[in-house]
Amino acid sequence: MADLSELKEKAAQIKEELRQKAESLDSSKSAYEVRKEFLDSKKGRIGLLMQDMRSVPSEQKAEYGKTVNELKVWAAQRFEEIDAKMKERELESRYKSEKIDVSMPAVKIAHGNLHPVTQVREELIDVFAGMGFEVYEGTEIENDYYNFTALNTPKDHPARDMQDTFYLSPEFLLRTQTSSGQIHVMEKKKPPIKILSPGKVFRSDDDATYSPMFSQMEGLVVDKKITLSDLKGMLDVFVKKIYGEETVTRLRPSYFPFTEPSVEVDCSCFACGGKGCPLCKGTGWIEVLGAGVVNRKVLENCGIDSDEYSGLAFGIGLERIAMLKYGINNIKLLLESDIQVLNQIGDQE
Ligand code: DAH
Repeated sequence: MADLSELKEKAAQIKEELRQKAESLDSSKSAYEVRKEFLDSKKGRIGLLMQDMRSVPSEQKAEYGKTVNELKVWAAQRFEEIDAKMKERELESRYKSEKIDVSMPAVKIAHGNLHPVTQVREELIDVFAGMGFEVYEGTEIENDYYNFTALNTPKDHPARDMQDTFYLSPEFLLRTQTSSGQIHVMEKKKPPIKILSPGKVFRSDDDATYSPMFSQMEGLVVDKKITLSDLKGMLDVFVKKIYGEETVTRLRPSYFPFTEPSVEVDCSCFACGGKGCPLCKGTGWIEVLGAGVVNRKVLENCGIDSDEYSGLAFGIGLERIAMLKYGINNIKLLLESDIQVLNQIGDQE
């Protein structure tokens, strides 16, 4: 049988226990669990005292109920305080762990860069796209006809010796020049034609300035009344965009079987402004590409009337442009793909 004095004793004991437990609480979650232990309406220790009411003598019932209620209110208040303290503590530790020191050096984000030759390729495409050129990418395996014969270089032509060729079979080879793209385009498309054909080319050469594989970008324009001065005009724009506004070009006579006349194009040395320096070997000029007026025979080979139409063509070595641009004296540095080396070359973003 429960009675008042027993209840008072129990209440004091519960208060003491609650105080002790409160000391060791370290999170709102554990506070919630302890709160349940004491205050759960059915199974909580204070709730159970209320159930004992049945066996309390009736004259004590009112006082008993009041005491249990007071204990309940007291415990609820305690838990509110505990809860507030836990929340504050948790917030503080969150602030601490999420604190940002704005004076700390930023974390360096490592990201890749385009290969310097790819950078040059994109840059050239940008420049020529601005003049209305479209890109046509040919294939690296070609047949003899597109790489040589149609370009006015038949089997016994001495100009074939200019390019040591990797043959895959008597008919197929690795293209030695992107000029083969000219023929594919002229066979498919009627003038006006204005294309760029970038890609890898292959020759069995190997030294500091030549590699068995390198990249070229071919340009071809075919329309009515195209002349050498159109070529010069376009190349002037090109060198100014790549090497700076003060750069100028000069044309030197040369020979390519697919152009007539043919020229080598030099630009004024962008390192010394034309005075003469180690880069231009004291000449003030730097050779940048081969070009010319498309040979009538090449137009005719593609079914284009050479009385009505004329064309201009040029071929740029991309590694050469990159070597000049970034001051590199060995083509192997560009092609060996050593990431440590490549990281030092090119435009880092
Ligand atoms: N195909 C030549 C080479 O690889 C470069 C070239 C010269 C391309 C003159 C042309 C050109 O289109 O007109 O050496």
